[in-house]
Amino acid sequence: MSLLDVQDLRVEFETPDGMVTAVNSLNFALSEGETLGIVGESGSGKSQTAFALMGLLAKNGHTSGKALFNGKDILQLSNTELNKIRAEQIAMIFQDPMTSLNPYMKVGKQLAEVLILHKGMDKKSARAESIRMLEAVHIPEAHKRIDMYPHEFSGGMRQRVMIAMALLCRPKLLIADEPTTALDVTVQAQILTLLNELKQEFNTSIIMITHDLGVVAGLCDKVLVMYAGRTMEYGAVNDVFYQPTHPYTKGLLASIPDLVADQAELPTIPGNPPNLLNLPQGCPFQDRCGYVFDRCKQAAPDLITFDGYRQRACHLEKETLQQKKTEQLSSKQKGFEHNGLNQEAMA
Ligand SMILES: Nc1ncnc2c1ncn2[C@@H]1O[C@H](COP(=O)(O)OP(=O)(O)OP(=O)(O)O)[C@@H](O)[C@H]1O
Ligand SMILES: [Mg+2]
Repeated sequence: MSLLDVQDLRVEFETPDGMVTAVNSLNFALSEGETLGIVGESGSGKSQTAFALMGLLAKNGHTSGKALFNGKDILQLSNTELNKIRAEQIAMIFQDPMTSLNPYMKVGKQLAEVLILHKGMDKKSARAESIRMLEAVHIPEAHKRIDMYPHEFSGGMRQRVMIAMALLCRPKLLIADEPTTALDVTVQAQILTLLNELKQEFNTSIIMITHDLGVVAGLCDKVLVMYAGRTMEYGAVNDVFYQPTHPYTKGLLASIPDLVADQAELPTIPGNPPNLLNLPQGCPFQDRCGYVFDRCKQAAPDLITFDGYRQRACHLEKETLQQKKTEQLSSKQKGFEHNGLNQEAMA
């Protein structure tokens, strides 16, 4: 059984201009110790997917579908049950750690409180465990730093504190919403290495929301490519990266800087994502798709499952996009290796 099994997840918001479907019929599953990357442009529904799972949607939001966590639908839990699960089994790291850390409280106290409240620890053991966790996320001189305030930490270190806090109760699932976007590249790489280490040490499952396909290559087992709230493509990272079957995935992969090939200009996907209040008839990606044909304008493609559990929503025959597979593979492989973000995923 999967640790998390999401079935037909929808998130709708009531707005003065009408109903916005921010997340539209997502299906994905995550086993223990597995990492899923969710990628897609701004506004594609990545954060709302995470918020829906955490029960943190805005008041005008509404979910439907199922999210079975250890077999129990977490979309149907009462607030009390949800609070318990959120603290002890599912944790979330947000993009900006300062929004989640209390600036007026010493870091150690913030960490210890979690353990006192949820694990019933006494003050002394909570402090010792907090120091241990700060050490696990490589905060230097953790026994001294534990008595400092968040502003005395650098951005990268605050993000580490957030990760430490999220992992304190040994959650089974960690949802990280762009946890490295605000950090510089070196610190980003360190945080990713850290998440990889923690994954191995604690066997935590991770949902990693990111704009960065390099992050997905370095950290994730599976990837869900979203566009306008929908799944465009989903599958094992190796399959999706080497044999993308959706023009959107192909566009995203092509826009990764390649340090090896001589690229005068980085290819980008022209245009912008559609307005969710005014989606075109047919495929939401049609206006930006280089492969568009009549059918795409008439009906949105169904989400189909193929090759085991892979999914795609595109009218194109999947082989059409796979023709250039070999060339793409060798050039991207070199690019990832040079970016230092990938060791195994491309092997
Ligand atoms: N409370 C709300 N009311 C109406 N629409 C909302 C609300 N919250 C989010 N949305 C809409 O839901 C859509 C998906 O938003 P979401 O935050 O999930 O995007 P995202 O993929 O995380 O983007 P980013 O990469 O910029 O973080 C957006 O179009 C957004 O405007
Ligand atoms: Mg977001």
